[in-house]
Amino acid sequence: MNIFEAIRKDHDIQRNLLDKLVDTSGDTEQRSSIFKELKHELRIHANSEERHFYKPLIPVDMMQEHARHGIAEHHEIDELLEQLEDTEQDSSGWLKIAKNLKEKVEHHLEDEEHTFFQLAGKAFTDTQKQELASKYNAHMQEQR
Ligand SMILES: [Fe+2]
Ligand SMILES: [Fe+2]
Repeated sequence: MNIFEAIRKDHDIQRNLLDKLVDTSGDTEQRSSIFKELKHELRIHANSEERHFYKPLIPVDMMQEHARHGIAEHHEIDELLEQLEDTEQDSSGWLKIAKNLKEKVEHHLEDEEHTFFQLAGKAFTDTQKQELASKYNAHMQEQR
């Protein structure tokens, strides 16, 4: 497995949880448990991804700007998660923020999988791509 496959597998977990989340309603156990799971998944992924994918790309010419942009988006996603935590779960505002979150995360994943993966594909050797995947997966495991 290379780093791209490792990240894509976790992106799919996020997409699945986002689909489920916007399908929940009001003050239900289902809504709070899916939200809790998604929040955890997003946060641990951002940690591991920044450490084992973005950081090794920062010294590579042209990649610094992309890495900065990606990290800024991680912060925006985190802010939306905080907004959801601070909003009454059964209010109409909650679902509205959840839909914003879904849109923002899906856009971010798309960006990473297309633009970012394309450029990074040329920056790392095959061995490096495999080593990064092992480190990324181990770090995710630790946090899970
Ligand atoms: Fe990301
Ligand atoms: Fe990601």
